[in-house]
Amino acid sequence: MQTYDTSESISLFNRAREVIPGGIYGHYAASNKRAGPRYFSRAEGAHFWDVDGNDYIDYMCAYGPNILGYNNQVVDEAAQAQYRLGNTVSLVAPITIELAEVLVDMVTAADWALFGKNGGDSTGLAVRIARAETGRRKVVKVTDGYHGVAPWMMATMDFESARTGTVPEDGAHILQVPWNDTDAFEQLIGEHKDDIACFISSPYDHPTMRDNELPDDGYWRKMEKLCRDNGIVLIVDDVRAGFRINLAGSNVAYGFTPDLICFGKAIANGYPLSALVGTDALREAATKVFYTGTQFFNAAPMAAAKATLLELQRANAATKITETGAALNEGLVRVASQQGYELIASGVPAMPFYRLANVPTAAHFAWVDECVKRGVYFLGYHNHFVSTAHTQADLGRTFEIVNDAFIAMGDPGSHQTV
Ligand SMILES: Cc1ncc(COP(=O)(O)O)c(C=O)c1O
Repeated sequence: MQTYDTSESISLFNRAREVIPGGIYGHYAASNKRAGPRYFSRAEGAHFWDVDGNDYIDYMCAYGPNILGYNNQVVDEAAQAQYRLGNTVSLVAPITIELAEVLVDMVTAADWALFGKNGGDSTGLAVRIARAETGRRKVVKVTDGYHGVAPWMMATMDFESARTGTVPEDGAHILQVPWNDTDAFEQLIGEHKDDIACFISSPYDHPTMRDNELPDDGYWRKMEKLCRDNGIVLIVDDVRAGFRINLAGSNVAYGFTPDLICFGKAIANGYPLSALVGTDALREAATKVFYTGTQFFNAAPMAAAKATLLELQRANAATKITETGAALNEGLVRVASQQGYELIASGVPAMPFYRLANVPTAAHFAWVDECVKRGVYFLGYHNHFVSTAHTQADLGRTFEIVNDAFIAMGDPGSHQTV
């Protein structure tokens, strides 16, 4: 391996700290804590290059938006064409309707769509529509489910209050249930009869720092029935998994129908857009609830989203990335085992979470660092993402690099077991 140099990243980070609190913030701040790159110079397909010129096969996909490859020509040209016509203007662009039509056509549970910018816009709106429709206060979420940085959501996080910037009242009406626990939900319904507005959850449990969990058989059908029987609005937060499991909505894969689905991340292949889709039963509430933002009507990201959704359909993307993710998992588990390590891949194949078993967490993170410095961009604590741009050649190179990373780690027995 050539000498791995990230000095330009570090020098930019030091410059950033003078003018940006913390230098890098939010989920990107994870890169501050590890060895590895902090700033990119360019990106293409499934790769990015850092400011020091190192090339990475990227399995984080910008934490989800990249689903068709960076700089996808079809998407970029659609956005550019709309930029030339106009982007943020004093009227709505017709592309908004075209995009809503494509979504309603493609997503089984959707009769209508509203657009915002970030995933948190959609989850916040979904909760407000549920409250407006039911006249109830309580929101039930899964214990470590993440739905954005709004106070109602952050107040439930296991952080000290200074890190959430919230007061207990922000979370006063938020109730939590463990994942896959229908009994706990039933108990809450008993305790808060007629005051639960909605249940919001991702289609499967994708927390950070631990194995991701799929729904148990029958889990979603039971949750759907409990919601229906008790007048509770069922919201799927598909911001992260959306379009990576099933283009018609992740719920289709698990055999149930929600009232509202939140999309974000992959919907426009990196252009700023999110969507909330819903059923006719909630159309009136969705009409009444005030929802806006200065940038919500940007036309170019809508053109990008329409092109992304059509490309996803044309490329049969969910199936393709599921197959690529399964091949990635299979190869990584095999390489690990050849070097005496056990790698656990959890979650859905298109969004794999990796954990090295039988070694301390520090050894798992050290292995991730060894992969990163050789050109495979993994993250130790978060699920990964696969795009349609990841090629067989990328996978082959990944296996070689990961094999070298295991060799650099040495004998698994040399790491103290937990
Ligand atoms: C499941 C889920 N919901 C909501 C959000 C919030 O989305 P955003 O950060 O775009 O507001 C995220 C972001 O990671 C997410 O993963």
